[in-house]
Amino acid sequence: LFNLKGRDYITTRDYTREELEYLIQMSIDLKKMWYSGIRVRPLEGKSVALLFKKPSTRTRNSFQAAVFRLGGFSVYMRPDELQLQRGEPVKDTARVLDRYYDALVIRTFGQEEIVEYANYMKNPVINALSDEEHPCQALADLMTIKEKFGRWDGLKMVYTGDIWNVAHSLIATAPLFGMDLVLAVPRGYNPIEEIWKFGEREASRRGTKLEIVHDLKEAVKGADIVYANTWWSMGKPEETKDKRKEDFAPFTVTPEIMNLAKENAIFMHCLPAYRGNEMTEDVIEGKWSVVFDQAENRLWTEAAILAALI
Ligand code: CP
Ligand code: NVA
Repeated sequence: LFNLKGRDYITTRDYTREELEYLIQMSIDLKKMWYSGIRVRPLEGKSVALLFKKPSTRTRNSFQAAVFRLGGFSVYMRPDELQLQRGEPVKDTARVLDRYYDALVIRTFGQEEIVEYANYMKNPVINALSDEEHPCQALADLMTIKEKFGRWDGLKMVYTGDIWNVAHSLIATAPLFGMDLVLAVPRGYNPIEEIWKFGEREASRRGTKLEIVHDLKEAVKGADIVYANTWWSMGKPEETKDKRKEDFAPFTVTPEIMNLAKENAIFMHCLPAYRGNEMTEDVIEGKWSVVFDQAENRLWTEAAILAALI
């Protein structure tokens, strides 16, 4: 048993594999209980603040639904509704919110802003996506893989899409869970060095493969999981859109690409998905796709994070 009470969840890199597995097992248990009609309320009397500087469909709603299902109360805020908009410093906002809420879930640009909130708050701070990482997504992805394959070790994942938060969180977790991870992207799209080094260390410790290649067809051979993501993340300058479209054009996941992977391979995507770009309609709607189970699992993994940390 692990006691994670009071911890932040800003990056998966602060957690051991055993701690992450504990959270995933708790997510699976909470999901099973819910569908068996068993109701548990570990967040009874607890309140959770959500502060989102970027749009969100899944993260916002899954957190609010998770808090509600576990008996708690949540408030959603955009920064323009707070005095932040008029220049109140993060450190003051953090200390005030800390007096009202039992946890803060925050989506913003720089990772350092989330760290600043955490430095000024006693209660847990949870990263709901930064430019650097998307640790809540990674946990739901791992849960989905466990549900589909019953294991992680020995699987091969191929990722294609923007090398940004979601890719970084996969680089930080796939090697830790014994999976090979091949990123198939155009030249010139590279991960943050510190996260890449973390992934490399874990890969060499566990004897798995971690590499960046530029040929999607070659990469997907023998893959168990093909994971696609948008070519154009939130916050990326509008003027880079056309260049990205051109650079990533050879990396669309099609049924032909999926047929090069293993027979029982699955298609994953954090969503939102842009049909005709990172994958075709017949892939995301096809037999390989697990994207809506993956989206649902956001709720169960966030429920476990909140229940464990608060
Ligand atoms: N996958 C994900 O984080 O989706 P939202 O941006 O809709 O929250
Ligand atoms: N990389 C994407 C993920 C969205 C959930 C973005 O940052 O926009």
